[in-house]
Amino acid sequence: MTRNVTLVTGASAGIGRALADVFAEHGHDLVLVARSAGQLKSAAAEIAGRTGVKCDWIAADLTLADDCDRVLAELDARGFHVDVLVNNAGVLHEGHFLDVSADRHVQLVDLNVLSVIRLTHALAGRMRDRRAGRILNVASTSSFNPVPSLACYAASKAFLLSFSESLSLELEGEGVTVTALCPGFTNTDMIAQGGRAPMRLPVIPNLEPREVAESGYAACMKGDPVRIPGLFNRLAVTGLRHTPDWVRRRTIALVERIGV
Ligand SMILES: NC(=O)c1ccc[n+]([C@@H]2O[C@H](COP(=O)([O-])OP(=O)(O)OC[C@H]3O[C@@H](n4cnc5c(N)ncnc54)[C@H](OP(=O)(O)O)[C@@H]3O)[C@@H](O)[C@H]2O)c1
Repeated sequence: MTRNVTLVTGASAGIGRALADVFAEHGHDLVLVARSAGQLKSAAAEIAGRTGVKCDWIAADLTLADDCDRVLAELDARGFHVDVLVNNAGVLHEGHFLDVSADRHVQLVDLNVLSVIRLTHALAGRMRDRRAGRILNVASTSSFNPVPSLACYAASKAFLLSFSESLSLELEGEGVTVTALCPGFTNTDMIAQGGRAPMRLPVIPNLEPREVAESGYAACMKGDPVRIPGLFNRLAVTGLRHTPDWVRRRTIALVERIGV
């Protein structure tokens, strides 16, 4: 006997925790993944107690291929079938490319890109076999543009957007949907600890993890290929997309320089 579960990576904090809350509130049994066992354990107990769903957790460092394999093996051993995969875990290292060590860049790519490939490759095949499944990849508004001082981060998020859109087309008609969720600045530890100053213009509000998660849940359940939460972010992305490339690049460089 297998049990359907929603797997949420990076579920101990921030947007991942909010996504876990929202999926649980809609009745999904969960498996939470992140590195810190203590935080996962208390999150799982709180979610299960409040919503009544079953909530398991697996502590793993997803930058490591062996840990990705261990998560997959553990899911099998516990009799879980992942019918919703939420690839949310991600890191951001602020700084000009040459001022950040190559090892840190590689670690970012290991998590933001390679772990997504590993988990998706293993789990999407099973979804296709059952002709049912949903994949939600947490990308970013930086998926759409270059971001000086976040070169590898923005490139990793551009990968996620392109990957998600391509995969959603490959799996069309197979019962499996793929959604790229593209939030802008959101009030989490990533922003507080990553060195990224919050937006300083009062007209540009940062998002809250809860509103990002609700938007992501709705898009995932609808099977939308791309979702940008928040009106300002949608307008900014759309506006820049319809701007000549050289104007777009100069605008981004100016915004970075004056630090709005
Ligand atoms: N905050 C924003 O403004 C923003 C905007 C756009 C997109 N995003 C994206 O949203 C996602 C979540 O970001 P967030 O702001 O919620 O970040 P966060 O608050 O820093 O949370 C990151 C989560 O990922 C987990 N994690 C980090 N390294 C890991 C690893 N090696 N293996 C497994 N889990 C790991 C963390 O738990 P442990 O430390 O316990 O491992 C935590 O649960 C990321 O993909 C990020 O790029 C964020």
